[in-house]
Amino acid sequence: MIVNSVRLVGFRNYEDETIELSPGINIITGENAQGKTNFLESVFILSCGHGFRTRADSELISFDREFARVSGKLCSGEREQSIEINMGRGQRKQILCNGVKKNAAELSEILRVVLFCPDDLNMIKDGAKARRRFMDMAISQLRPSYATLISDYTRLYEHKKRILSDWREKPSLLEALDEFSDSLCRCSAQIIRYRAAFTKRLCEVAIPIHSEFSGSGEELSLCYQTVGTVSDPFAAASDIYPELLEHQSAHRQAEIASGNVLSGIHKDDLEININGANARLYASQGQTRTAALSLKMAEREISLQDTNECPVLLLDDVLSELDSKRQEFVLNRIGGGQTLITCCEDGQLKGRTGGKIINVAAGRIARPQDSER
Ligand SMILES: Nc1ncnc2c1ncn2[C@@H]1O[C@H](COP(=O)(O)OP(=O)(O)O)[C@@H](O)[C@H]1O
Ligand SMILES: [Mg+2]
Repeated sequence: MIVNSVRLVGFRNYEDETIELSPGINIITGENAQGKTNFLESVFILSCGHGFRTRADSELISFDREFARVSGKLCSGEREQSIEINMGRGQRKQILCNGVKKNAAELSEILRVVLFCPDDLNMIKDGAKARRRFMDMAISQLRPSYATLISDYTRLYEHKKRILSDWREKPSLLEALDEFSDSLCRCSAQIIRYRAAFTKRLCEVAIPIHSEFSGSGEELSLCYQTVGTVSDPFAAASDIYPELLEHQSAHRQAEIASGNVLSGIHKDDLEININGANARLYASQGQTRTAALSLKMAEREISLQDTNECPVLLLDDVLSELDSKRQEFVLNRIGGGQTLITCCEDGQLKGRTGGKIINVAAGRIARPQDSER
């Protein structure tokens, strides 16, 4: 899939700009705080309906505006398609694919992206949240039904959290607690199956990538961890559900007493081991970076294998964070497919990647110069 052009109206620091992209590598350069990441974020939004630095649409709208639009023309599934996302302050956002209203989860049927930013390099040392985010983003792009489950889950979870934190002021809230816990367990049972299946797939793809990259001495292994009572995360949702309910019931009193959600998949983790030792605890910074790169490259590979189309790769300031050996690894792996790379100076990358240079200054595309390889 190829994004041919993107138009940004009232989006972050862009007033009204149309950016034409090359089907290969695009290098977005400019000084700091000019709008490079904002532009990458707009392409990300076209794939899932929300930004990657915020969940609040209002932050995406230019400070002095009431309305923002991100629209893209792309080639996907071997045909020309269009996506338009309209955001207004205090309004529900509107998503149109080829002029027809869609929900956010459906966007990935037309555009899939793999985003790689400096934070991802820390995903192995960071808390479990970073690794859940990695799984959720990757699976959502592959399975629109998963994106819907996650948004249902988030809504139910927030509601339950409010019940638990507010019941002392309003005891009648507790009447709805069991119903929310039950719905959460039903929804979670399905999410667990997706996460288990994705982890299995990730093992198949990431392990060989990692071994090629790190040399034969290092072996990566991955293990999905979920609620303790779940005996088989690959089982049918109808078998997982009662196990979740059991854990939930055992923690019910403690949840009410503490005012917090204690049981559930919001603590799930993807354990990453190098040579059998937990990488979060024992690996060096270099080793965890190599493993993180392998996981991100595997995410892209899985998307390609599953859909027969290369997802658009978005690299936000990530290359400048890497030493030259790791840069080479990423650049060599890019192969075909469209890639958008942001970086401060183009000189360093230009010589090695070719591609189109897009210069951003204060939310405007300055001096665009085509320099296809
Ligand atoms: N909603 C918004 N309205 C106007 N400007 C914004 C908005 N959100 C962010 N910005 C501006 O965008 C700039 C940062 O852009 P960014 O793309 O992150 O920079 P960089 O080029 O370093 O990647 C900042 O100057 C910030 O003030
Ligand atoms: Mg940036």
